[in-house]
Parts: sequence; C-alpha cells; structure tokens
Amino acid sequence: MVTVRVPAKVNVQLAVGPVRSDGFHDLANVFLAVGLYDEVTVTPADALRITCEGPDAEHVPLDATNLAARAAIALAERHGLAPDVHIHIAKDIPVAGGMAGGSADAAGALLACDTLWGTGSTQDELLSICADLGSDVPFSLVGGAALGRGRGEILTPLEVGGTFHWVFAVADGGLSTPAVYRECDRLRGDAQVPEAEPAPDLLEALRTGDPAALAATLVNDLQPAAVSLRPSLAATLSAGTEGGALAALVSGSGPTCAFLAKDPDAATAVATALTASGTCRAVRITSGPARGATVV
Ligand code: C5P
Repeated sequence: MVTVRVPAKVNVQLAVGPVRSDGFHDLANVFLAVGLYDEVTVTPADALRITCEGPDAEHVPLDATNLAARAAIALAERHGLAPDVHIHIAKDIPVAGGMAGGSADAAGALLACDTLWGTGSTQDELLSICADLGSDVPFSLVGGAALGRGRGEILTPLEVGGTFHWVFAVADGGLSTPAVYRECDRLRGDAQVPEAEPAPDLLEALRTGDPAALAATLVNDLQPAAVSLRPSLAATLSAGTEGGALAALVSGSGPTCAFLAKDPDAATAVATALTASGTCRAVRITSGPARGATVV
C-alpha cells in the first residue's frame, strides 16, 4: 500500500489570453500550492476500483471518469501493465471549487501507482502524463509556486521568500471549468484580447514574501465570469475584505473565494467575519507555499 499527500492550489495570477484553435486558452498562470490536502492511497486489487471519503465525497465520481483512475490507466498502459489497483481518496480539498482537487488526486494516484508498481518513472515522464490528464495536473505534482504557460502545463518553478496566510470561503456546489471559460469568452465578446503575460510586480512580491505587495497584484481574469455565473460570490468577496483581508479573489474558475491575510491573527479574524456573514458554506484557514505530491 502506498499513500501520497497532494496539496490544493490558488492562482495568484490567472491571465487568460485569446482562445486557441484547440479550444484552450493560452495562460500566464501563477500557481501557489496551499496546505489543504487530499491523500490518495493505492492497494493491489483484482480490478481498478475507486473509493472516496470526506465531507464532499458524494460529489466525487467513482468510475473511469475520475482523473485519478485515468492517471492509473495511463501509467499502466505505458508499461504494459493491468491497472488493477484500489484507489482510495481521503478528500479534504473542496470539489469543483477552483482549487485543483481533481488534479491533485490525479497527480497523487500517478505517483502512488508509480511507487506501488516500481515503474520508476522520471519526473519528466510523470509530468508528461500529468499534462495529458489536465492543464493543472503537472502543478499538483510539483507544488510550491510556479508559472504555468501554454494552457498552464508548461511550468517554471518560482522562488517564494516567505509564508503567505490565506482564508478560503467554500461555496455551496461547484462550477464547471469549461463553463467558466465559455462565460469569459462570452463576456469578452469581440474585444481584442492581449497575450497573457506574467506580471513582474507579482513575481517580485512572491520572491520577497511581502503579503501587501502580493495583495496589490493579485488578479484572476476568470473572476468576472465566475461572478457572472454565480452572482452571490460578490457578497462573499466583500465580506472577507470588510473582515480585514488584504485582498480577495476567486480561486481559479471558482466558486471558492480566496482571501490573503497579513498574518495568522488577521487570517483568523477574516475567517470569523466570513463565517458570521453567512455568505459561504465553510471557511478554511491555511498557508502557502506547500510541498507538491509526496509519498507519506
Ligand atoms: O485541462 P483541463 O481538462 O483542466 O481543462 C478543462 C477545460 O477548461 C477545458 O476543456 C477548456 O474548456 C478549459 N480550459 C481552457 N484553457 C486552459 C485550460 C482549461 O480553455 N488553459
């Protein structure tokens, strides 16, 4: 049996460029891994099987559409093996929340199966399978902080000079990532969309570990689309800002909202304000950067 722990992420910059001929968007996607984790455990079995536990477990598909199952199948195919494994997911990352929970499970299952089966993949081989599984899966494997170019899968690690304190407001129900990208395109209409580029001030704020500087540069081009599809997010974002957050933004394609706090005490105050506001289902306090997928 092998267990792998994998972190959630928040996008501190999500710049969305024009839509490409393959339907994806070129991105400048600055990922920061944060300390909410799923744990993926694999055990030899007669056939591929997935189980899941956790508060959102009933929303997780337990068939071959689950990215963790697809990860096991992809690795097995590459090595001529049968993917006969029981994958158990202990889920703590919000489901369909814009925090890469499904991607985390895929990266976790891949590393766990590679360890269980002794297939000894190099990091580059694992990253290439991750990129085939989804745009955010390579980052879930490496964690820390990274700039993602292309559709988000081409990673450059980033230096981070300190710990950033975050509060996450979990919404009722998820949002579909393709639907949010479609809404982004619809809202943009015929407007000329510039190429997505990383913001130098934001990379500098990460490098120096300065929360106020990072707060001033946080940006998510998907936020207007997520708020358009889920207008109640506007009240959640205001509640956290009024509670003392340095900045508020939708996490990835949402609907989870992320709040950057000055320090742990400020994070506690923001969390208390969000809970009192009644504008979200649950509140989580954590920090980043966090380690990528790790065998425990
Ligand atoms: O890569 P992934 O499977 O996570 O992407 C889910 C969907 O999100 C894609 O089918 C596409 O609609 C949208 N997407 C996009 N541009 C990206 C990443 C995702 O349009 N860079």
